[in-house]
Amino acid sequence: MTIYPQSRLTLLPIQDTGFPSSFAADFVSEFVKACEFDNSGSEYYHSWKVCIMACRIGRKLNFDQNAMKELFFSSLLHDIGGVMVNGHVIDLLTQIPDVYGQKSSFRIFVHPHRGETILGTFPTFRNISEIVGTHHEFYDGTGFPKGLKGDKIPLCSRIIRVADAVEIAARVHSADNADEIISLLGIFSGEEFDPEIYDIFVDLVKNEALFDAVKSSEVIEANMAELKKEMHDNYLLSSPDTLNRFFKMVASVADNLTSSEYNHSMRVAELAVQMAYLMKLDESEILAIRWASFLHDVGKLVGNRAVYRKRDKLTEEEWLTVKAHPQNSYDILNKVAGMEKIAYYILYHHENHDGTGYPEGLKGDKIPLASRIMHVADAYDAITSNRPYHRKKQQEEALSELKKNVGRQFDPNIVEVFSKFLIS
Ligand SMILES: [Fe+2]
Ligand SMILES: [Fe+2]
Ligand SMILES: [Fe+2]
Repeated sequence: MTIYPQSRLTLLPIQDTGFPSSFAADFVSEFVKACEFDNSGSEYYHSWKVCIMACRIGRKLNFDQNAMKELFFSSLLHDIGGVMVNGHVIDLLTQIPDVYGQKSSFRIFVHPHRGETILGTFPTFRNISEIVGTHHEFYDGTGFPKGLKGDKIPLCSRIIRVADAVEIAARVHSADNADEIISLLGIFSGEEFDPEIYDIFVDLVKNEALFDAVKSSEVIEANMAELKKEMHDNYLLSSPDTLNRFFKMVASVADNLTSSEYNHSMRVAELAVQMAYLMKLDESEILAIRWASFLHDVGKLVGNRAVYRKRDKLTEEEWLTVKAHPQNSYDILNKVAGMEKIAYYILYHHENHDGTGYPEGLKGDKIPLASRIMHVADAYDAITSNRPYHRKKQQEEALSELKKNVGRQFDPNIVEVFSKFLIS
């Protein structure tokens, strides 16, 4: 049997990624926003607010284009290691405002390092990952995780420290009053904060109405859109190799939080790509299927993530959350220019051949071929993995379960291709 060589996917020339230069900023901002929904379904906008304020400080410091980009991406991603099955590290930080308490909370203590590890997997994000790893270091050396001091802490991390503390303080004290925030945080200048950066922050608040830039979701969305225009990037995620690693990172964040077995999306991608290859689809289509498979469950990050690990029967409301995930994945990705096709394939990965699936109840050929392929790969991986509701099954048993559902759940042709591939 011919196995589609992975290397051919990763050796495509750089310009063949096909994504516009707005891709990195669009994708990262939408992904981060999706991670920051609370259980009631409203957005926290924590990292977006931190990013908007941090970039205003960076501009005051006359950052050049590259430094601004580093600050933009690192401030957006600063809490990526703090996304948890039940909520987000900002929930904990608002409950534990003092640094000694924060250091003894495992989840708080570990989140900068976890973020650094997640982002350190692609070479073009090395500086960004270092900044993320040090965003809770304090100017006087009493922060965490390493206890770095003064200039040993990267400048961008010192800026994020101020913006982050401001955002959390505003959240805790619901202070839309600038004077109140300044009087609350002023005592930490020289301790938690680099005094020079804190002074710039105070100046921005007093003379340029910094808080107005983050006061409502409409203003936040508008400011982020403005900022993104300056962040067009042809470097950070420009090669298929970096993109592959980046999408794998996104997949592993989603899988770790919402799936009972690691690497679910990676295995779905491998199986789907093999099927697509056997069906002689062209190379760009195979690449789209691969990336769609990596990202198919990213919508599970939105809302109550604990439902995906629940052992008991789901309530009606929890079941609605589960059923919303293809639409959520679609909504996140469809906002990113260049990802429309991938978003479209993902939207239909739970449609059934006979029209009993979701979200739209499409039937047969009306379901995109890529989605039908992913549906089979997804189901096979679920059957052969341990899930809260069943023990994993072996290949043969899994295959006969797929065959049992041919015509009802799955496209007969695809299951046929898949079974040939499995037994060859
Ligand atoms: Fe943080
Ligand atoms: Fe934060
Ligand atoms: Fe799914």
